Parts: sequence; structure tokens; C-alpha cells
Amino acid sequence: MSAAQDKAVAGAGGAAEDTPLLRARDLARHYAVSRGWFAAKATVKALDGVSFELRAGRTLAVVGESGCGKSTLARALTLIETPTSGELLIHGRDASDASARKALRRDVQMVFQNPYAALNPRKTIASTLAEPLVINTRLSRAERQERVEALAAKVGLRMEHLRRYPHMFSGGQRQRIAIARAMVLQPGIVVADEPTSALDLSIQAQILNLFMDLQEEFRTGYVFISHNLAVVEHVADEVLVMYLGRVVERGEKRQLFARPLHPYTQALISATPALRPADRRARIRIHGELPSPLKPPSGCAFHQRCPMAIPRCAQVRPELREVDGRMVACDLV
Ligand SMILES: Nc1ncnc2c1ncn2[C@@H]1O[C@H](COP(=O)(O)OP(=O)(O)OP(=O)(O)O)[C@@H](O)[C@H]1O
Ligand SMILES: [Mg+2]
Repeated sequence: MSAAQDKAVAGAGGAAEDTPLLRARDLARHYAVSRGWFAAKATVKALDGVSFELRAGRTLAVVGESGCGKSTLARALTLIETPTSGELLIHGRDASDASARKALRRDVQMVFQNPYAALNPRKTIASTLAEPLVINTRLSRAERQERVEALAAKVGLRMEHLRRYPHMFSGGQRQRIAIARAMVLQPGIVVADEPTSALDLSIQAQILNLFMDLQEEFRTGYVFISHNLAVVEHVADEVLVMYLGRVVERGEKRQLFARPLHPYTQALISATPALRPADRRARIRIHGELPSPLKPPSGCAFHQRCPMAIPRCAQVRPELREVDGRMVACDLV
């Protein structure tokens, strides 16, 4: 059966389609940081109340400036770190439940920006790819080899590559290996944190296509983190825009790109030339730096840089609410 037919059959069942792989509700992660010997500790609200759902075969892209909490979110979703508060359900099971965590951890895999750091330099590619199977399954050696070879072929590696070591590959090939490693247990969810940012433009497109092919075949749900909106436009089904640890806008990609509502989303999209057709309004510039997360502004965290801000924005923090089929945290739209 082809991947497309497979997908049609899975879709016809209906039930699986409706169960979210991942459900985050008000997820927060705060860090206590030292301000010097005698000062009291300060709190960085790296992630401050993020909610979303992810379904099988879908991609949620997370975008926002450096320091807005994307990697913190990735670490919470992959159970590398425990959230300070909020709820995380994976396949409907509470991820804070210690007895469930081990099983859930294997179902949420991560792909990092720097594939070299994620690969053990002393191990051949074959043993790197087989390792999760040795730890987590009872497959025989022959079965493991079969699984590894099939997956290697899918990600575009040749059989002789399996006997080599990570340093013998280019960046793009290493990312293929890291993706294969994340996929070898056939996880329901893959969280990819800037997986193409370190690669040449031509290689980026190949890796994005590989992600999409694998998704079509395995119906994996992706949380895809990127600061590059052209990349997001290519891969996402849904987009979540973050600013200082909070969601400012979340919705279907088509809608959000065609008519961004939050001034911050508008600025991000208008700063990406490829996404700015000639007829669209001129570039919206945001001024100033991202405020320190140690001292977030009062009211709307974006108000000091927002071209539309009115005095009220400095006082009242806008709640996320539904406007025109998506969620927006701005009282002016
Ligand atoms: N372990 C930690 N202790 C203290 N502060 C932290 C810690 N990890 C992250 N932070 C802070 O939390 C905020 C969010 O960091 P995070 O790495 O999640 O941002 P990001 O969106 O991934 O940025 P980038 O695009 O640069 O990767 C930053 O202000 C960062 O300094
Ligand atoms: Mg990051």
C-alpha cells in the first residue's frame, strides 16, 4: 500500500484523527536566577502559560525572536525538563505521572539544530541508529539491522554509510542521520528545534522535504521550531507565535499568513521578503530590543515596540481570545 493510501485508510477510521498526540495547557517553566551575592534570586518566566494541541500527521510551527522561550518549550515537551506549572498530556496521558514518563519519553523524540552534538563520535552510524532499539525493544539483532537499513534508505543514506563515523559526513548528511535516529522507534511526536538553521540554503530544502516525506509515511506529529518564516510557511499546518514566553497568536498557517492579526505577527511576516507580495502593505518595523525577561514590561509585553500601542496597552495584559478563527492576544484587533 502506498503512503497516500495508508493515510487515507488511517483517516477513514476517524478516531485516531481526533485524539490529540499532544495537549499542552498553560504550560509554564520559570527559572530562578542569581543576581549577585546578596540580592534575592530573580525569576525568569522563560515559558509562561502556553496552550495548544497537536494531532497525528500535523505540524505545529513555533516562531518568535531569540529568547522568547522556544527551546524551553521544546525541553518541556520532550520531558527533558519538568514544567513549573500547567498540564501536558501525551496521547491523553498525564506526562507529570512518573510511572508514565518512561514510556512517553520514547514517543516524543527531538531533533536539534546541531546534529554533530547529537551524535556519538565514537560510534558507527549503524550502532547509533540501532541503540534506541537495543534499549527500548526486544527485537533480535537481525530485526534491528533490518529496521536500521530500511530507515537509512528512507532518509537517503547508502548501506556503506552505516559503517562510517559521524565526522565523515557533511552537515546535511549528519542531520539526515539525526533524523533517522529520532525516527527509529517510530515515535508519535518529533520536536525539531531549528533543525535546518545551521545548513546551507540548498540543503535546507532537502531536509525540509525529508521531514515532510517521513511525516506522510509515519503520520508523525511535528512541533517545528524556527525563526525563519519562509521555512515555517513551507512546513507548517498551524503556527504558534511567541513573545517573551507567551503566545501572542495561534492559528492555521494559511489564515495567519494571509491575514496576521497581532501587530507582532504582522511585523514578523512583513520582515520576510519572500512572504511579502508587492500588493501587501509596506514593511512594518518594530523598534528596540526584546525586553529583558527578568523585567518584562507591564500590560502587553509588546507595547513598547508596538506601532499600534495606546496608553491602555501599558496597563492591561491582553488575554488570548478567539478572533476570526484563530487565537490572538491583542485588545486592539
Ligand atoms: N536554565 C536556564 N536558566 C535560566 N534562564 C534560562 C534557562 N534556560 C533558558 N533561560 C532563559 O529563558 C529565556 C528563553 O530561552 P530559550 O532558550 O527558550 O529561548 P529561544 O526562543 O529558544 O531562543 P533562541 O531563538 O535564541 O534559541 C531566555 O531569556 C533564556 O535566557
Ligand atoms: Mg532556542
